[in-house]
Amino acid sequence: TRPDNAEIRRRIRTIPDFPKPGIMFRDITTLLLDAEGLRLTIQGMAAQVDGPVDLVAGIEARGFLFGAALAMELGTGVLLIRKDGKLPGATIAEDYALEYGTDRIAIHADACAPGARVLLVDDLIATGGTARAAVRLLRKAGAVVTQAAFVVDLPELGGADALRGDGIHVSTLVA
Ligand code: PRP
Ligand code: HPA
Repeated sequence: TRPDNAEIRRRIRTIPDFPKPGIMFRDITTLLLDAEGLRLTIQGMAAQVDGPVDLVAGIEARGFLFGAALAMELGTGVLLIRKDGKLPGATIAEDYALEYGTDRIAIHADACAPGARVLLVDDLIATGGTARAAVRLLRKAGAVVTQAAFVVDLPELGGADALRGDGIHVSTLVA
């Protein structure tokens, strides 16, 4: 179901041993630097959107870039899902497990109307811990979350499949 996204794939570089030995880090900064790469990416994400969307939610930090650009393309606003402690207004938060310990993401409690159809966006899905917590958080806020879009999938880490198990239609451009 994934179109041939060679033009996107070749603009993403892989940096070995970042942030620690043994990790092959997919670096999307080179994709963002390239006007044609950015355009193809946003158009590719927009083409896979499945039904009406009221709001795009981007995950800090790289999800903000793709989320805002995709929101412009779809004609919606963008909701910020931030690391806890960064948002100035009243928030709701959700914890998720890391390899060692936990992390917490938050949104403004009044960021979306109950029943709003929210499309979740991030640059990459790995274990899915971040995206699954984002879905729980948005649903806690009353959003209807049925789809999520990522530029890169690391399928061997199982995150996209886990998210599908949460009832989410997952689209990705590059594996
Ligand atoms: C990366 C990436 C996703 C998440 C994916 O963000 O941008 O948000 O990790 O991993 P997961 O599927 O295993 O949860 P990172 O935590 O590096 O934060 P940053 O964008 O603020 O650098
Ligand atoms: N690139 C960017 N973010 C990530 C990666 C990666 O390879 N793995 C987990 N988060």
